[in-house]
Amino acid sequence: VEASGDFKVADMSLSDFGRKEYDLAEFEMPGLMAARKEFGPSQPLAGVRIMGSLHMTIQTGVLIETLHALGADVRWVSCNIFSTQDHAAAAIVRAGTANVFAWKGETLEEYWWCTDKALNWPDGEGMDQIVDDGGDATLLLHEGKKFEETFAKDGSLPDPASTDNAEFKCVLATIAGSIKKDKTRFSRMVARMVGVSEETTTGVHRLIVMADKGELLFPAINVNDCVTKSKFDNVYGCRHSLPDGIMRATDVMLSGKKVVICGFGDVGKGSAASMKAQAAVVYVTEIDPICALQACMEGYQVETIENCIKKHNADVFITTTGNKDIITVEHMAMMKNNAIVGNIGHFDNEIQMEKLDKATTRMNIKPQCDKYIFPDGHGVIILAEGRLLNLGCATGHPSFVMSNSFTNQTLAQLELRKAYVDAGMDKTKSRYQNKVYLLPKALDEKVAKLHLGQLGAVLTELSTEQADYIGVAKTGPYKPTTYRY
Ligand code: NAI
Repeated sequence: VEASGDFKVADMSLSDFGRKEYDLAEFEMPGLMAARKEFGPSQPLAGVRIMGSLHMTIQTGVLIETLHALGADVRWVSCNIFSTQDHAAAAIVRAGTANVFAWKGETLEEYWWCTDKALNWPDGEGMDQIVDDGGDATLLLHEGKKFEETFAKDGSLPDPASTDNAEFKCVLATIAGSIKKDKTRFSRMVARMVGVSEETTTGVHRLIVMADKGELLFPAINVNDCVTKSKFDNVYGCRHSLPDGIMRATDVMLSGKKVVICGFGDVGKGSAASMKAQAAVVYVTEIDPICALQACMEGYQVETIENCIKKHNADVFITTTGNKDIITVEHMAMMKNNAIVGNIGHFDNEIQMEKLDKATTRMNIKPQCDKYIFPDGHGVIILAEGRLLNLGCATGHPSFVMSNSFTNQTLAQLELRKAYVDAGMDKTKSRYQNKVYLLPKALDEKVAKLHLGQLGAVLTELSTEQADYIGVAKTGPYKPTTYRY
């Protein structure tokens, strides 16, 4: 790992390779390039400090360089220990477009060290805005401020031994270390924060829980629920990167195999479609009758996980729920030898990894591919240690679909800044309070429009009479907010 300046990446000699991939990616990311063209000249993010916690891939690098082109001062980390593309990180550092702290294969301690470093500008202060994916940066700020307040009251530091959760142990250790050096660092950071834009379903879920309890400390824009994000990235992104991850990790023939997709939300729909396209026999598990019925209408067999294992003897199991304990250690013990188990949801708790670790012997096959062997000699193949396998075992979603997601991220960051400027840089007067907001539909339609030309799509224009007849403006928005796409 190289760290000769205010950055830490795996190998700076990979930067030329990274730059070549950036050149290719830019061509596939028309939304981001249009944003650079439209907003670059006026520098709306001039001097704005933006911290990002989002998979440090080539696609994310194009987002970083877009924020930089709009004037922002950027620091970045990955939101997963396995998702960094080292050449992508190196090329960003080489170009000087952001200070990056990320490499593929971080330990949990290193992961939280990186997050803490990226929050910290050289003057010891924090950022104005965050681009978050899964909510870890937001979580660290909230927990940090909370423990600083406890410390001020009774002098007690957070105790990593107070939790069994390996991840949260690191959070507590990071905060304790910070308080020892600077008692009000996180509180000052929160005071400066103008807002966060959140990328994914799980992060939005965390934000809504905080907002409902009145505990959210700054405004948040929910980028995930832009139509041009969740109905594209979550669905078509996973349709591309799920089979990519399984194949790169195992080279297994999927045709004719029995594949179980746990959860039939946006990610589940794309995941199931990709397995069907490989001529696998696809089973779906669901708790929601509407999603279960949708799965039936697509020709999938809706079953319980227990039946998929015992009755159907399935070969591959993928979790997509954003929920926990979907595949238990008891489930895995019942599976056939060499069953493949992976997760494409945000966190690794969809599969009971800690319990599996204790119940088995682990045999590493190659990075991010292990066989966990039970005492009776049979075992399961686990992808990316139960972390999101499309980024751990492959390179995540392709540029074109991420251009949609990240154009929304750029618009959200611009909107947070604009509201702050419009309020005379007085947060209390901003149109955004400490709640979770959506971007307006007109912007969603704009993002889609920016991506049509690349595919040679030609949009039909409404006539004035037609627009009047269906009751919309000729220039959109074309649908009411209740429309579900
Ligand atoms: P969603 O809410 O649309 O879908 C989740 C589905 O799982 C729901 O239909 C729900 O009813 C179902 N579910 C919940 N508990 C279940 C259980 N016990 N058994 C079976 N089904 C259950 O959420 P979405 O957008 O599909 O996201 C799912 C996860 O994937 C989230 O953690 C999200 O952050 C993550 N994600 C990962 C991506 C990646 O590239 N790996 C991309 C986008 C999202």
